[in-house]
Amino acid sequence: MDDPDGYFGEPVAASYHDPSDRMFQPEAVDPAVSLLAELAGSGRALELAIGTGRIGLPLSQRGVPVHGIELSRAMVARLRGKPGGDAIGVTIGDMAATRVDGVFTVAYLVYNTINNLTSQDAQVACFRNVAEHLTPGGCFVIETAIPNLRHLPPGQDILGYRAGPGRIVSYSFNHATQQYRGHYAPSAARSSALTSPTACRATNAASVVTAIGMMRSAGSARICAGGHGHPLASPRRRSNRTTR
Ligand SMILES: C[S@@+](CC[C@H](N)C(=O)[O-])C[C@H]1O[C@@H](n2cnc3c(N)ncnc32)[C@H](O)[C@@H]1O
Repeated sequence: MDDPDGYFGEPVAASYHDPSDRMFQPEAVDPAVSLLAELAGSGRALELAIGTGRIGLPLSQRGVPVHGIELSRAMVARLRGKPGGDAIGVTIGDMAATRVDGVFTVAYLVYNTINNLTSQDAQVACFRNVAEHLTPGGCFVIETAIPNLRHLPPGQDILGYRAGPGRIVSYSFNHATQQYRGHYAPSAARSSALTSPTACRATNAASVVTAIGMMRSAGSARICAGGHGHPLASPRRRSNRTTR
């Protein structure tokens, strides 16, 4: 990708904060912030890929010192433009390798963003990096959807996700590499639009078992799963999807 900000460069950053999106609604944000504040206790919180501060900002406003790591300067500029945005320190860099001063009682990586590390090596490096930032007993919280691979009939490698308004989203899978791609096509177009996606983004889906293994080897083992349609720590989900 040519843009140093990656997929989340200026065009995406400009429209990222969509208050009508369910992941920006209080029902999605508040339980996540409450869980993270509880886990942070009297310590600091490290948000990997903090973006425009959807979670980091309200967490900071609850009195938890928050530091972010973020690849995209365009996203950080949006964070800085919000009230309270200046109270959050941000280090620009790749969350798999970027070091930050001090230690944290909780680190978190939400909204499926683990998948933006598109190889298992990068994901393992990220877990190692987090482990080096955590206090003993500290938590690493991951919120991610798990692809519905069981819905794939034999021989099929693509699943539809959502049609409209505005666009059609589908995902194609490569079982050998564990990578999947999001395909985004305008839904106003005729159905043939699906064969000529306007955007295509590769991501990597580590299996839940792999993720738990990585967390254990990093000295931390709590997963709160959620993501697309199932926000982190929603009361309905939290009890049966938290793994120690
Ligand atoms: C879906 S947004 C999530 C932002 C924020 N955490 C939230 O919950 O709204 C994904 C963010 O991850 C950032 N990102 C992607 N890959 C990254 C990497 N390797 N290191 C740091 N940030 C990364 C993007 O720039 C973008 O801001």
